[in-house]
Amino acid sequence: MATGLTLDQLRLDAEQVLRSNDRGNWTRPSPRLYPHQWSWDSAFIAIGWAHLDPLRAIGELRSLLEAQWETGMIPHIAFDPDVDLSAYEPGPNRWASAGHAPPERLTSAICQPPVHAIALGRIREITVQSRPELVAHIDEAIAELYPKLERWHRWLHEVRDPDGTGLITILHPWESGLDNSPRWDEPLNAVGQSTACLERPDLLEVSNSDERPTNTEYRRYMFLLESLVALDHDQSAAMETHPFRAADVFFSAILAAADDALSELAVIAHHPRSAHSHRTNAALIRKALEHRWDPELSACLDVDLRTGEALRSDTIATFAPLISGCDLDRSAILVERLFGPSYCGSPGLKWQLPPSNAVTSPSFDSRAYWRGPQWAPITWLLWWGLSRGGHGRSAERLRTSALDQLSAVGCVEYVDPLTGDGLGSRSQSWTAAVALDWLAQESSK
Ligand code: SER
Repeated sequence: MATGLTLDQLRLDAEQVLRSNDRGNWTRPSPRLYPHQWSWDSAFIAIGWAHLDPLRAIGELRSLLEAQWETGMIPHIAFDPDVDLSAYEPGPNRWASAGHAPPERLTSAICQPPVHAIALGRIREITVQSRPELVAHIDEAIAELYPKLERWHRWLHEVRDPDGTGLITILHPWESGLDNSPRWDEPLNAVGQSTACLERPDLLEVSNSDERPTNTEYRRYMFLLESLVALDHDQSAAMETHPFRAADVFFSAILAAADDALSELAVIAHHPRSAHSHRTNAALIRKALEHRWDPELSACLDVDLRTGEALRSDTIATFAPLISGCDLDRSAILVERLFGPSYCGSPGLKWQLPPSNAVTSPSFDSRAYWRGPQWAPITWLLWWGLSRGGHGRSAERLRTSALDQLSAVGCVEYVDPLTGDGLGSRSQSWTAAVALDWLAQESSK
């Protein structure tokens, strides 16, 4: 594990992580644990590439969008056919996505948070600052990729929010990106367990099983996958009958921010009239998030759509309005909570960075996947949202603490907030990518 790197050494280390995981026109999230292309990982990774080679950054998004389904959905995994099938589970055969995925492509059949338009906007910003001579090429690429991103957002708004509530439904905890978050415990515990043979190649890579999901959780994840396969991935049927359906505030907030980004990309892509509809979609989500505010918890809460009940957990997702944008009163409350004793300000924390679950929550576990550890891309989303929302000083606190942490632990997958131990996979591409983005702010000061 890297320890005590200077910022220059961290930059070299992060660059080396991206280059060593580079597969030509896409990037593995990590060398062994995640050997295929993951949707939201790729978007963050593209931001990192933008600091090294803006055209390679575009290539990352372009390759991901080649796996986009005809419906508009971007699958959460585009499988590399050259990787041994036993290296990652559930592999392509389990998803049975043939007939839905583009011809000859192997993909999963669920999605992940829509950070892609945010990433494309950020690639352009970085290029304007660091390689102005390439901006015309980036703008051509935006014109090429915009229609695909527009279809992706349209699919989310129309298929995953058919009633126009402003909140996006997820059908699997993996769609939330925050897979094992305690926010999903209640609805997940209500679903069955797969009886199929369970393979866990992930535990060969991460030998401390307390850092990974349990077998029981995996059996439930597989049960949900099998339920979707049984419907042949019919989304309208799944939206009515699937055993896990949740209105996800964090996913929705990311979509609102991405809709805003897409409205700016629409203008560059010569679709100025579409810009308005993207902004309208973003506003609809922001309004819905206001209705999900729980004044008692000072939190924005998900809904279990099978019961209609709010999911009253205190996790990082409750800060969703800081990412979507919200009014000043709401953001002031959330910033105070973020730096307060349940999150960054908890006295036991090695670095004042947001844990994925409130330290004060009974479900907090400093080592378990998404149940306490700190994740650099989540900190990046909050940093970006705070900067965008006029909370520059708070954003800067996150950025400098994140760089302190990364210099000490290197580009690991996640970090134990209490001990500062790096956990999960080493050489994690999205961690390296956000490190490069934060480091570039350092050198531009
Ligand atoms: N994060 C989950 C996994 O790695 C789902 O993509 O397997």
